[in-house]
Amino acid sequence: MIFDEFAIKSLIRPIPDFPKKGVIFRDITPLFQSPRAMRMVIDGLVQRYVGSDFTHIGAIESRGFLLGSTMAYELNKPLVLFRKQGKLPADVLSEPYDTEYEQAMLEVHADSLTEGDKVLLIDDIIASGGTFVAAARLIRRMGASIYEVAAIIDLPELEGSQLMQDIGVPTFTLTAF
Ligand code: PRP
Ligand code: MG
Repeated sequence: MIFDEFAIKSLIRPIPDFPKKGVIFRDITPLFQSPRAMRMVIDGLVQRYVGSDFTHIGAIESRGFLLGSTMAYELNKPLVLFRKQGKLPADVLSEPYDTEYEQAMLEVHADSLTEGDKVLLIDDIIASGGTFVAAARLIRRMGASIYEVAAIIDLPELEGSQLMQDIGVPTFTLTAF
């Protein structure tokens, strides 16, 4: 299926002033309600990474799980979950981070990666980049490296993709607003 960026963008709904005043929330639920659009998004990402030299998929809670688990299945790679604080049951590593609208803590099981592992990190959107940076720090703390970070949407005005470039992490997105 040919990737139709216009169709994808038309299914990402802008919600002004959510979750707080001044933020335009990019709602991807219509995109996931369209089987054709969901297939285009997953195929668009999977096609980029078929045969690539990474060892793990890392998926970021919660919207990153929508993409990351399907990609891990399609690409036949182990899936590592990056979760919000207090959700993972075994020993964790934690990193605080700021997003466009809140302060939070990201966690990962401490034994989920090891030296030499190369992680393709997946989320739905890169805004300020705070979430991806926290995940990248957790990966590096385990001695592993980041192959690339990938998302459906980039918000270049919020400079998250620039921030990733500054810390030496390649970024790939399917579209931007
Ligand atoms: C949102 C979005 C990304 C992150 C992007 O997640 O899904 O994960 O913020 O922002 P950043 O680039 O400024 O860090 P959020 O934690 O709000 O909610 P979710 O659980 O619905 O994914
Ligand atoms: Mg999220």
